[in-house]
Amino acid sequence: MSKEIEDFSVMKDGLEYKYYTMGEWKVSTSGNTIPIYNPYNDKLVGEVQACTPEEVDQIISNAKDNIECWETTPIKERADILQKAAKLINRWADYLGKLLMQENGKPLNSAISEIKRTALIFNATAESRDSLIGKTIMGDILEGYSREKMSITYRVPLGVILCIGPFNYPFNLTGSKIAPALVAGNTVVMKPPTEGSITASHFGVILEKAGVPPGVFNTITGRGSEIGDYLVSHSDINMISFTGSSQTGKRIAEKAEMKPLLFELGGKDAAIVLDDAILENTVDAIISGAFSYNGQRCTAVKRVLPMPGIADRLVKRVAEEAKKLTIGDPAQNKDIGPIISSKQCDYIQELINDAIDKGAEVKCGNKRKGNIIWPTVLDKVTEDMRIAWEEQFGPVIPFIRIKSAQEAIEISNKSKYGLQGMIFTENLDLAFNIAQELEVGTVQINGKSSRGPDHFPFLGTKSSGMGTQGISYAIKNMSRPKVVVMNLSEQGKLVHECVWKE
Ligand code: NAP
Ligand code: G3H
Repeated sequence: MSKEIEDFSVMKDGLEYKYYTMGEWKVSTSGNTIPIYNPYNDKLVGEVQACTPEEVDQIISNAKDNIECWETTPIKERADILQKAAKLINRWADYLGKLLMQENGKPLNSAISEIKRTALIFNATAESRDSLIGKTIMGDILEGYSREKMSITYRVPLGVILCIGPFNYPFNLTGSKIAPALVAGNTVVMKPPTEGSITASHFGVILEKAGVPPGVFNTITGRGSEIGDYLVSHSDINMISFTGSSQTGKRIAEKAEMKPLLFELGGKDAAIVLDDAILENTVDAIISGAFSYNGQRCTAVKRVLPMPGIADRLVKRVAEEAKKLTIGDPAQNKDIGPIISSKQCDYIQELINDAIDKGAEVKCGNKRKGNIIWPTVLDKVTEDMRIAWEEQFGPVIPFIRIKSAQEAIEISNKSKYGLQGMIFTENLDLAFNIAQELEVGTVQINGKSSRGPDHFPFLGTKSSGMGTQGISYAIKNMSRPKVVVMNLSEQGKLVHECVWKE
């Protein structure tokens, strides 16, 4: 038995994985498990527990019971534990990456990078613990108050944080929630995406070995459609940090009542390409932005808006490069692999068909075999086509030709999403002016849209999110100020007279 399998043997029986709470790995009393199949070859990767509402109650209660001890564990100790966890994540990156590739069809090298990026986030979160430093404010800053009134403000945890991640980054986008939650002194209940839950469940072993006490970190597995509503409306959950679709985000917001929410949702990022853009740099950014992990990234380039002076050359070059992408097995690091489900493939195909029916030109792709869709370039897409507005989450890139920067701004802003925008041009003054007009969280100038580096603020406007992620921002969002006001009495006041020097 290899060392990794030995370390992880506690969390499973054969291919049946358990859920983790109070430092123990458990089988659900439901007797039900959910099979997870490799989207590339349909082989069974494993099965996860379908937790019941009673188990949800118990797990949340375990997390609640352990808040006080974890909150009073020194911040430095909590940070040290995260750094130990980062070491373990790095040590096991190859094993976990392979598992992740099998679960969600991400090319092996990208899957390993996802794991290592999570270790980086754990380390950087530990190092950002000074985001928890408070401040002292004297009353006399405001008219009518004296320095006998003084507020001492420090940051305290919110309580039990529910962390829910998406299938496309199941390890990283649960890890990027767990780390700030823990360093801020919260206890955590993680509900991983079903496709990705095996890899994410390994946080149980990692955090326990790193020194996280029982009950501080817990997992719940089960379909979101079955236990999601119960979980998010649970009265002992104090905050929800969620990444996933805008549709699920809206549902959670309805069910969660007054809980604080931190949401990273869908996107429809548009790349505005002006006539003077450097062609080859722009082509590289579009190819990598639109097609890496088959376009299944919130920050994928999902629309290109080129000006007339560059449109023909750009479409031609993007189609040429798209045709060179390799197709097939994620284990062999092919550029394009399987989409997460056949249902999602059907949806992507629907968007392609709708565009073609309404007059879009197919420059390459529009071919499907099983769950693989060939990289597809659609030119002359118009605003009446669904793909101009709906999030394809697949390897299809629509070109909507524009006649002016103003038109590009209008089309960008008409979207219900507002994650990121891109401008490709040599004219940085104009780029900066356009950037100010775009209703998005982030504008990239001469680069593809992307979340990282992970200490940058990351946020979406409109249906793309709520609140701000990014390491120190997440720590702040997962803690709150606690204010103690000192009202000093005249009694203890030192009597001294200040005399102005002449
Ligand atoms: P999803 O279907 O919304 O699922 C996301 C998570 O929510 C999964 O863990 C899912 O569990 C759970 N869930 C489903 N219904 C729920 C409910 N009623 N209550 C609570 N949780 C529930 O999204 P996805 O397909 O995994 O991810 C793709 C989407 O996420 C895309 O729209 C993409 O743009 C977006 N995304 C955004 C970002 C960002 O940073 N802005 C990052 C990554 C992805 P199950 O798996 O069990 O259904
Ligand atoms: O899928 C959404 C992720 O937040 C995107 O992250 O830009 O690093 O691929 P990324």
